[in-house]
Amino acid sequence: MCGIVGCALRRRASDIIYGGLKQLEYRGYDSAGIATLSKGQISIVKKQGKVSALENCASDLDGNIGIGHTRWATHGKPSDANAHPFAAGKFAIVHNGIIENCLELKREFLSDSPFSSDTDSEVIVRLLDKYYDGNLLTTLKKVCSLLSGSYAIAVICADFEGIAAAKFKSPIIVGSGADGNFAASDAPALAGLCRDISVLEDNDFALITSDGIKIFDGDLNEVFRPVRPNLATPANLELGGCPFYMLKEIREAPYAVANTCAVFHTAEGEVKKLCKNINRIILTGCGTAYNSGLVAKRYIEQFARIPCEAEIAGEFRYKNPIVGGNTLVVAISQSGETADTVEAARLAKSANAKVIAVTNAPYSQLNSVADVVIPVAAGPEICVAATKSYAGQIAALYLLAGVLAGKDLTDDLQKISEPCKNTVENTDISAVADMCARSSGVYFLGRDIDYAVALEGSLKLKEVSYIPSEGYPAGELKHGTLALIDESAVAVVVITSERLAGKSKNAVEQVLSRKGKVAVITCINSIAEEFKDRAVIIKIPDCGEYLSPLVSSSALQLIAYETALLLNRDPDKPRNLAKSVTVE
Ligand code: AGP
Repeated sequence: MCGIVGCALRRRASDIIYGGLKQLEYRGYDSAGIATLSKGQISIVKKQGKVSALENCASDLDGNIGIGHTRWATHGKPSDANAHPFAAGKFAIVHNGIIENCLELKREFLSDSPFSSDTDSEVIVRLLDKYYDGNLLTTLKKVCSLLSGSYAIAVICADFEGIAAAKFKSPIIVGSGADGNFAASDAPALAGLCRDISVLEDNDFALITSDGIKIFDGDLNEVFRPVRPNLATPANLELGGCPFYMLKEIREAPYAVANTCAVFHTAEGEVKKLCKNINRIILTGCGTAYNSGLVAKRYIEQFARIPCEAEIAGEFRYKNPIVGGNTLVVAISQSGETADTVEAARLAKSANAKVIAVTNAPYSQLNSVADVVIPVAAGPEICVAATKSYAGQIAALYLLAGVLAGKDLTDDLQKISEPCKNTVENTDISAVADMCARSSGVYFLGRDIDYAVALEGSLKLKEVSYIPSEGYPAGELKHGTLALIDESAVAVVVITSERLAGKSKNAVEQVLSRKGKVAVITCINSIAEEFKDRAVIIKIPDCGEYLSPLVSSSALQLIAYETALLLNRDPDKPRNLAKSVTVE
């Protein structure tokens, strides 16, 4: 959420910053802005809306030094006035994070300052202006010492031929390239610009000029942070012939599974060591990552016979959880930056639990908190809605289940590649999407592991189509939710287990008898046959009970995608959302 870019170049900066912001747009698209520095003068353009709103005016900005921002509104509505950068005196700043004590700071130190926005971020630039002592770095350190919350800040100052950056709990990377030196929230902003990057640590500061980058710790001692390859390249950020990233990424799920399998050996030994004597497992994450934990709970308990719970990270961290030395906490996050998940992992560590991170972001904060990282190798996921990373998480957690159970499950996962490809490439979803687009609400139903997948199907549909939707256990329908079913409602029922098919089909009958429309996603021939004249049938390959989520979820993702298109929604940038939620 919120993307920042800064650079000090040997060429004009504004178009490079604009290009970087385009790559960070998945972090927010409520407004965008750029500030540049030229001959001691700061110039700013900023506008409500997507980064493309700056396309015509960004080129008016002179100067080789600049900062840019794409916003996901937290404090203050999306508007031109609340767009970053903010300026005061000799400074302009961009900020990602939340300043939790902004009201206190305004009251205590800034009562006479003329605020121009409703944002928390503006206090930063007002404080810089107020406390400026002629030294950008020491002033920035003083200001940061007053802030509570989280921040990744980039600053330009009329007196300094470069930019300064500060980091606490929100990410910043820095890197050098042929044109000069950069800072950004995430690697895609620097794709094609920097082959290598360094990740700032909490309380770090950086000074970036066209000649080099200096990193300082919280006491302003110059420090070295490891240099790592920038895994985001222009090639892996392309749309690959698809109209939207969502479709491209749904189609990449089989590769996410195969690649996750291929890199698992890098973690396997450490996972085995860490998991000795574990007698309880908690899987935690937010949104789709949490939903993948719900799927994994089923197979971990079945294979390893260790009690396992899935907990929403934002709940887990505030409930004084019972964890100890024999508890394994698995923190799942595509971005590795989700504030609730990172804090849940920190809490678990502080209670002596063993912590495994399952992330798709090798240099993320979550990775640095965890004892061991199981990598999800899905490649950059740009669409705000998570798709291929869900498949990668399910694969990574399946391999973890294998270690816990003392079994090698890699073969099972390798066999899944063909059925997965088949589903993402050949499933005709149009009749279901059409039904959903005309409905008043869509209810995703299933039992056991199919219920876990139903929850994800529902999240995906509401996220990209804005149609009200619920995921529900098929057996619970008659205990309340059935009251919502009439001819305008749609039920999508997932039935992949022979064991439970006889029970799940009752839910189909119950919806049909209340005149609701039904789609059945199934790998079971007898179920397809039984409902073929009364429901839309989506036939998926049979992959066995515990790997069925890898194919059924692809069908559900395609339903969400096609429904969004029918309703003229942008599936890559759903309203009000951002990809990595780095604030609470
Ligand atoms: C998924 O489609 C959502 N965009 C959202 O629920 C997401 O999964 C959640 O915010 C967690 O993100 P993370 O995996 O990066 O931690």
